[in-house]
Amino acid sequence: AGGLRDYAAAAGVHIGTALSEGRLGETAYANTAANEFNAITAENSMKWESLEPTRGSYQWAGGDRVVQFAQDNGAIVRGHTLVWHSQTPPWLTPGAFSNAELRTIVQNHVQTVAGRYAGDVYAWDVVNEPFNEDGTRRNSIFQQQLGDGYIADALRWARAADPNAALYINDYNIEGINAKSNAMYNLARDLLAQGVPLDGIGMQAHLIAGQVPSDFQANIQRFVDLGLDVAITELDIRMQLPATADKLQAQAADYTRVMNACLNVDGCIGVTVWGVTDKYSWVPDVFSGYGAALPIDENYAFKPAYYAVQRTLGGP
Ligand code: G3I
Repeated sequence: AGGLRDYAAAAGVHIGTALSEGRLGETAYANTAANEFNAITAENSMKWESLEPTRGSYQWAGGDRVVQFAQDNGAIVRGHTLVWHSQTPPWLTPGAFSNAELRTIVQNHVQTVAGRYAGDVYAWDVVNEPFNEDGTRRNSIFQQQLGDGYIADALRWARAADPNAALYINDYNIEGINAKSNAMYNLARDLLAQGVPLDGIGMQAHLIAGQVPSDFQANIQRFVDLGLDVAITELDIRMQLPATADKLQAQAADYTRVMNACLNVDGCIGVTVWGVTDKYSWVPDVFSGYGAALPIDENYAFKPAYYAVQRTLGGP
Protein backbone atom coordinates (compact mmCIF):
# COMPACT_ATOMS: atom_id res chain seq x y z
CA ALA A 1 0.00 0.00 0.00
CA GLY A 2 1.11 3.55 -0.60
CA GLY A 3 1.66 6.20 2.01
CA LEU A 4 -0.92 8.82 2.91
CA ARG A 5 0.71 11.10 0.35
CA ASP A 6 -0.22 8.78 -2.49
CA TYR A 7 -3.88 8.79 -1.51
CA ALA A 8 -3.81 12.54 -0.96
CA ALA A 9 -2.36 13.17 -4.40
CA ALA A 10 -5.15 11.10 -5.95
CA ALA A 11 -7.69 13.06 -3.88
CA GLY A 12 -6.25 16.39 -5.09
CA VAL A 13 -5.02 17.70 -1.73
CA HIS A 14 -1.71 17.64 0.09
CA ILE A 15 -1.06 15.86 3.37
CA GLY A 16 1.74 17.51 5.29
CA THR A 17 3.76 17.30 8.45
CA ALA A 18 5.86 19.58 10.63
CA LEU A 19 9.50 18.58 10.39
CA SER A 20 12.36 19.11 12.85
CA GLU A 21 15.53 18.73 10.83
CA GLY A 22 17.45 17.77 13.97
CA ARG A 23 15.52 14.46 14.04
CA LEU A 24 16.36 13.41 10.50
CA GLY A 25 19.27 11.30 11.70
CA GLU A 26 16.68 8.91 13.14
CA THR A 27 15.94 6.55 10.27
CA ALA A 28 12.34 5.82 11.24
CA TYR A 29 11.63 9.54 11.52
CA ALA A 30 13.12 10.38 8.13
CA ASN A 31 11.53 7.41 6.39
CA THR A 32 8.10 8.06 7.85
CA ALA A 33 8.24 11.73 6.92
CA ALA A 34 9.33 10.86 3.38
CA ASN A 35 6.87 8.02 2.79
CA GLU A 36 3.72 9.49 4.31
CA PHE A 37 3.75 13.23 3.58
CA ASN A 38 4.01 15.40 0.48
CA ALA A 39 4.05 18.78 2.22
CA ILE A 40 6.56 19.94 4.81
CA THR A 41 6.50 22.78 7.33
CA ALA A 42 9.60 23.57 9.37
CA GLU A 43 8.48 23.04 12.97
CA ASN A 44 10.83 25.74 14.26
CA SER A 45 13.70 26.51 11.91
CA MET A 46 12.13 29.24 9.78
CA LYS A 47 10.98 31.23 12.79
CA TRP A 48 12.66 34.58 13.40
CA GLU A 49 14.44 33.37 16.55
CA SER A 50 16.00 30.50 14.60
CA LEU A 51 16.93 32.51 11.52
CA GLU A 52 18.33 35.68 13.09
CA PRO A 53 19.38 34.91 16.69
CA THR A 54 21.91 37.73 16.54
CA ARG A 55 20.84 40.89 14.78
CA GLY A 56 22.11 41.04 11.22
CA SER A 57 23.47 37.50 11.15
CA TYR A 58 21.13 35.07 9.43
CA GLN A 59 21.51 31.34 10.09
CA TRP A 60 19.98 29.49 7.16
CA ALA A 61 21.23 25.95 7.74
CA GLY A 62 18.15 24.60 9.54
CA GLY A 63 15.60 26.03 7.14
CA ASP A 64 17.71 25.03 4.15
CA ARG A 65 17.88 21.45 5.48
CA VAL A 66 14.09 21.31 5.65
CA VAL A 67 13.78 22.62 2.09
CA GLN A 68 16.38 20.13 0.89
CA PHE A 69 14.55 17.22 2.54
CA ALA A 70 11.29 18.30 0.93
CA GLN A 71 12.88 18.66 -2.49
CA ASP A 72 14.65 15.31 -2.21
CA ASN A 73 11.30 13.72 -1.51
CA GLY A 74 9.05 15.59 -3.92
CA ALA A 75 7.20 17.47 -1.20
CA ILE A 76 6.06 21.09 -1.24
CA VAL A 77 7.09 23.48 1.56
CA ARG A 78 4.89 25.77 3.67
CA GLY A 79 6.95 28.65 5.00
CA HIS A 80 6.33 29.20 8.72
CA THR A 81 6.44 32.00 9.78
CA LEU A 82 7.46 35.60 9.03
CA VAL A 83 5.71 37.78 11.62
CA TRP A 84 4.78 36.12 14.94
CA HIS A 85 4.84 37.39 18.50
CA SER A 86 6.40 34.17 19.83
CA GLN A 87 9.89 32.82 19.16
CA THR A 88 11.23 36.24 18.27
CA PRO A 89 14.97 36.75 18.81
CA PRO A 90 16.15 38.02 22.20
CA TRP A 91 17.26 41.33 20.71
CA LEU A 92 13.75 42.08 19.41
CA THR A 93 12.02 43.36 22.54
CA PRO A 94 9.28 45.97 22.95
CA GLY A 95 10.73 49.44 23.19
CA ALA A 96 14.24 48.48 22.09
CA PHE A 97 13.61 50.28 18.81
CA SER A 98 11.53 53.27 17.79
CA ASN A 99 8.33 52.51 15.90
CA ALA A 100 9.93 53.65 12.65
CA GLU A 101 13.02 51.52 13.27
CA LEU A 102 10.89 48.49 14.08
CA ARG A 103 8.88 48.92 10.91
CA THR A 104 12.09 48.89 8.86
CA ILE A 105 13.37 45.86 10.80
CA VAL A 106 10.16 43.91 10.10
CA GLN A 107 10.20 44.94 6.44
CA ASN A 108 13.80 43.80 6.10
CA HIS A 109 13.05 40.50 7.81
CA VAL A 110 10.04 39.72 5.64
CA GLN A 111 11.89 40.63 2.46
CA THR A 112 15.09 38.82 3.44
CA VAL A 113 13.39 35.56 4.38
CA ALA A 114 10.68 35.51 1.71
CA GLY A 115 13.32 36.51 -0.84
CA ARG A 116 15.74 33.82 0.29
CA TYR A 117 13.15 31.06 -0.03
CA ALA A 118 11.40 32.39 -3.15
CA GLY A 119 10.88 29.46 -5.47
CA ASP A 120 11.23 26.98 -2.59
CA VAL A 121 7.99 27.60 -0.72
CA TYR A 122 4.53 27.40 -2.20
CA ALA A 123 3.00 29.39 0.64
CA TRP A 124 3.98 31.54 3.61
CA ASP A 125 2.34 32.00 6.96
CA VAL A 126 3.10 35.71 6.64
CA VAL A 127 1.39 36.59 9.92
CA ASN A 128 0.83 34.03 12.65
CA GLU A 129 -1.66 34.26 15.53
CA PRO A 130 -2.66 37.94 15.36
CA PHE A 131 -5.88 37.58 17.38
CA ASN A 132 -6.98 37.06 20.96
CA GLU A 133 -9.82 34.64 21.70
CA ASP A 134 -12.36 37.49 21.87
CA GLY A 135 -11.40 38.69 18.40
CA THR A 136 -9.39 41.71 19.51
CA ARG A 137 -5.86 42.09 18.22
CA ARG A 138 -3.17 40.33 20.23
CA ASN A 139 -1.00 42.89 21.98
CA SER A 140 2.24 41.78 20.29
CA ILE A 141 5.30 43.95 19.79
CA PHE A 142 4.09 44.43 16.21
CA GLN A 143 0.57 45.47 17.20
CA GLN A 144 1.86 47.75 19.98
CA GLN A 145 4.45 49.58 17.96
CA LEU A 146 3.17 49.38 14.36
CA GLY A 147 -0.61 49.35 14.86
CA ASP A 148 -3.33 47.55 12.93
CA GLY A 149 -1.65 48.15 9.57
CA TYR A 150 1.26 45.81 10.21
CA ILE A 151 -0.63 42.87 8.71
CA ALA A 152 -1.32 44.58 5.39
CA ASP A 153 2.25 45.88 5.30
CA ALA A 154 3.71 42.42 5.94
CA LEU A 155 1.56 40.89 3.19
CA ARG A 156 2.65 43.57 0.71
CA TRP A 157 6.33 43.15 1.61
CA ALA A 158 6.05 39.38 1.25
CA ARG A 159 4.41 39.69 -2.16
CA ALA A 160 7.16 42.04 -3.34
CA ALA A 161 9.85 39.58 -2.22
CA ASP A 162 8.16 36.43 -3.56
CA PRO A 163 5.46 37.10 -6.15
CA ASN A 164 4.67 33.39 -6.53
CA ALA A 165 4.11 32.23 -2.96
CA ALA A 166 0.56 32.07 -1.67
CA LEU A 167 0.30 34.43 1.30
CA TYR A 168 -1.57 33.32 4.41
CA ILE A 169 -2.63 34.52 7.81
CA ASN A 170 -2.60 31.57 10.22
CA ASP A 171 -4.21 31.16 13.64
CA TYR A 172 -5.58 28.63 16.14
CA ASN A 173 -9.11 28.30 17.54
CA ILE A 174 -10.53 29.65 14.29
CA GLU A 175 -11.80 26.25 13.14
CA GLY A 176 -15.38 26.82 14.30
CA ILE A 177 -17.52 29.91 13.91
CA ASN A 178 -16.72 32.05 16.96
CA ALA A 179 -15.53 35.51 17.95
CA LYS A 180 -11.97 34.82 16.87
CA SER A 181 -12.84 33.34 13.46
CA ASN A 182 -15.34 36.16 12.91
CA ALA A 183 -12.53 38.64 13.51
CA MET A 184 -10.34 36.77 11.02
CA TYR A 185 -13.19 36.71 8.53
CA ASN A 186 -13.74 40.46 8.85
CA LEU A 187 -10.02 41.15 8.54
CA ALA A 188 -9.72 38.96 5.44
CA ARG A 189 -12.75 40.58 3.82
CA ASP A 190 -11.38 44.08 4.52
CA LEU A 191 -7.88 43.28 3.29
CA LEU A 192 -9.26 41.87 0.05
CA ALA A 193 -11.48 44.93 -0.41
CA GLN A 194 -8.35 47.09 -0.04
CA GLY A 195 -6.45 45.07 -2.62
CA VAL A 196 -3.96 43.69 -0.10
CA PRO A 197 -2.29 40.48 -1.35
CA LEU A 198 -3.91 37.79 0.79
CA ASP A 199 -4.36 34.34 -0.73
CA GLY A 200 -5.34 32.07 2.10
CA ILE A 201 -6.22 31.41 5.71
CA GLY A 202 -4.44 28.78 7.74
CA MET A 203 -6.49 27.07 10.42
CA GLN A 204 -4.02 25.45 12.80
CA ALA A 205 -6.47 22.97 14.35
CA HIS A 206 -4.79 22.10 17.63
CA LEU A 207 -7.88 20.25 18.79
CA ILE A 208 -9.05 18.16 21.74
CA ALA A 209 -10.61 14.72 21.19
CA GLY A 210 -14.39 14.97 21.37
CA GLN A 211 -14.35 18.69 20.64
CA VAL A 212 -14.11 19.07 16.87
CA PRO A 213 -16.36 22.04 16.06
CA SER A 214 -19.52 20.89 14.25
CA ASP A 215 -19.41 23.98 12.03
CA PHE A 216 -15.81 23.46 10.86
CA GLN A 217 -16.84 22.81 7.25
CA ALA A 218 -19.24 25.76 7.16
CA ASN A 219 -16.48 27.96 8.51
CA ILE A 220 -14.00 26.82 5.86
CA GLN A 221 -16.67 27.43 3.24
CA ARG A 222 -17.25 31.06 4.23
CA PHE A 223 -13.55 31.88 3.79
CA VAL A 224 -13.47 30.09 0.43
CA ASP A 225 -16.54 32.09 -0.57
CA LEU A 226 -14.43 35.25 -0.10
CA GLY A 227 -12.15 33.89 -2.83
CA LEU A 228 -9.46 32.56 -0.48
CA ASP A 229 -7.79 29.21 -0.14
CA VAL A 230 -7.94 27.49 3.22
CA ALA A 231 -5.34 25.08 4.57
CA ILE A 232 -5.45 23.11 7.79
CA THR A 233 -1.92 23.81 8.91
CA GLU A 234 -1.09 22.26 12.30
CA LEU A 235 -3.59 19.51 12.98
CA ASP A 236 -3.34 17.43 16.13
CA ILE A 237 -6.10 16.05 18.35
CA ARG A 238 -4.95 15.51 21.89
CA MET A 239 -6.42 13.27 24.57
CA GLN A 240 -5.89 12.76 28.25
CA LEU A 241 -3.25 10.07 28.76
CA PRO A 242 -3.10 7.15 28.92
CA ALA A 243 -4.43 6.46 25.46
CA THR A 244 -6.89 3.55 25.51
CA ALA A 245 -8.38 1.62 22.59
CA ASP A 246 -11.68 3.47 23.06
CA LYS A 247 -10.03 6.88 23.12
CA LEU A 248 -8.00 6.06 20.02
CA GLN A 249 -11.18 5.03 18.19
CA ALA A 250 -12.91 8.24 19.21
CA GLN A 251 -9.86 10.21 18.08
CA ALA A 252 -9.96 8.44 14.71
CA ALA A 253 -13.57 9.56 14.26
CA ASP A 254 -12.44 13.11 15.03
CA TYR A 255 -9.70 12.89 12.39
CA THR A 256 -12.34 11.74 9.91
CA ARG A 257 -14.48 14.78 10.80
CA VAL A 258 -11.58 17.18 10.22
CA MET A 259 -10.50 15.56 6.97
CA ASN A 260 -14.04 15.60 5.62
CA ALA A 261 -14.53 19.25 6.59
CA CYS A 262 -11.59 20.03 4.30
CA LEU A 263 -12.24 17.49 1.55
CA ASN A 264 -15.88 18.56 1.17
CA VAL A 265 -14.88 22.13 0.25
CA ASP A 266 -13.18 22.95 -3.04
CA GLY A 267 -10.63 25.51 -2.01
CA CYS A 268 -9.48 23.66 1.10
CA ILE A 269 -6.17 22.68 -0.39
CA GLY A 270 -4.64 20.38 2.17
CA VAL A 271 -4.06 19.23 5.71
CA THR A 272 -0.81 19.30 7.66
CA VAL A 273 -0.45 17.38 10.92
CA TRP A 274 1.84 19.00 13.49
CA GLY A 275 4.54 16.36 13.74
CA VAL A 276 5.64 13.03 12.34
CA THR A 277 5.22 10.99 15.52
CA ASP A 278 3.77 11.29 19.02
CA LYS A 279 7.33 10.71 20.21
CA TYR A 280 8.28 14.33 19.50
CA SER A 281 4.93 16.12 19.64
CA TRP A 282 4.88 19.51 21.39
CA VAL A 283 1.60 18.59 23.13
CA PRO A 284 2.79 16.81 26.33
CA ASP A 285 5.32 19.58 26.98
CA VAL A 286 2.63 22.23 27.02
CA PHE A 287 -0.53 20.39 28.12
CA SER A 288 0.48 18.29 31.08
CA GLY A 289 -1.22 14.87 31.08
CA TYR A 290 -2.30 15.18 27.43
CA GLY A 291 -0.77 13.67 24.31
CA ALA A 292 -1.13 10.90 21.72
CA ALA A 293 -2.37 13.65 19.41
CA LEU A 294 -1.01 12.51 16.02
CA PRO A 295 -1.95 9.67 13.63
CA ILE A 296 1.39 7.89 14.18
CA ASP A 297 2.43 6.80 17.67
CA GLU A 298 5.73 7.10 19.56
CA ASN A 299 6.96 3.80 18.04
CA TYR A 300 6.01 4.90 14.52
CA ALA A 301 3.05 2.49 14.50
CA PHE A 302 -0.07 3.60 12.63
CA LYS A 303 -2.96 4.41 14.95
CA PRO A 304 -6.69 4.17 14.16
CA ALA A 305 -6.45 7.89 13.29
CA TYR A 306 -3.92 7.05 10.57
CA TYR A 307 -6.28 4.57 8.94
CA ALA A 308 -9.14 7.03 9.31
CA VAL A 309 -7.17 9.68 7.40
CA GLN A 310 -6.22 7.11 4.77
CA ARG A 311 -9.88 6.15 4.32
CA THR A 312 -11.07 9.75 3.90
CA LEU A 313 -8.48 10.11 1.12
CA GLY A 314 -9.92 7.15 -0.75
CA GLY A 315 -7.71 4.45 0.75
CA PRO A 316 -8.83 1.02 1.94
O1 G3I B 1 16.29 24.36 20.80
C1 G3I B 1 16.17 24.30 22.21
C2 G3I B 1 17.18 23.33 22.79
O2 G3I B 1 18.46 23.80 22.52
C3 G3I B 1 16.92 23.20 24.30
O3 G3I B 1 17.77 22.23 24.81
C4 G3I B 1 15.48 22.81 24.57
C5 G3I B 1 15.15 22.75 26.05
O4 G3I B 1 13.82 23.06 26.31
O5 G3I B 1 14.63 23.76 23.98
C6 G3I B 1 14.78 23.84 22.57
O6 G3I B 1 13.89 24.78 22.06
C7 G3I B 1 12.52 24.38 22.02
C8 G3I B 1 12.06 24.39 20.57
O7 G3I B 1 10.70 24.11 20.52
C9 G3I B 1 12.79 23.38 19.70
O8 G3I B 1 12.55 22.10 20.17
C10 G3I B 1 11.72 25.33 22.84
O9 G3I B 1 12.07 25.21 24.22
C11 G3I B 1 10.26 25.07 22.65
O10 G3I B 1 9.50 26.09 23.29
C12 G3I B 1 9.91 25.06 21.18
O11 G3I B 1 8.55 24.74 21.09
C13 G3I B 1 7.95 24.96 19.83
C14 G3I B 1 6.82 25.96 19.97
O12 G3I B 1 6.16 26.10 18.73
C15 G3I B 1 7.31 27.32 20.42
O13 G3I B 1 6.25 28.19 20.58
C16 G3I B 1 7.42 23.63 19.33
O14 G3I B 1 8.51 22.76 19.02
C17 G3I B 1 6.56 23.84 18.08
O15 G3I B 1 5.88 22.64 17.79
C18 G3I B 1 5.53 24.91 18.35
O16 G3I B 1 4.78 25.13 17.17
C19 G3I B 1 3.74 26.10 17.25
C20 G3I B 1 3.62 26.75 15.88
O17 G3I B 1 4.85 27.27 15.47
C21 G3I B 1 2.55 27.84 15.88
N1 G3I B 1 1.28 27.33 16.37
C22 G3I B 1 1.33 26.62 17.65
C23 G3I B 1 2.37 25.49 17.61
C24 G3I B 1 2.37 24.72 18.91
O18 G3I B 1 2.78 25.53 19.98
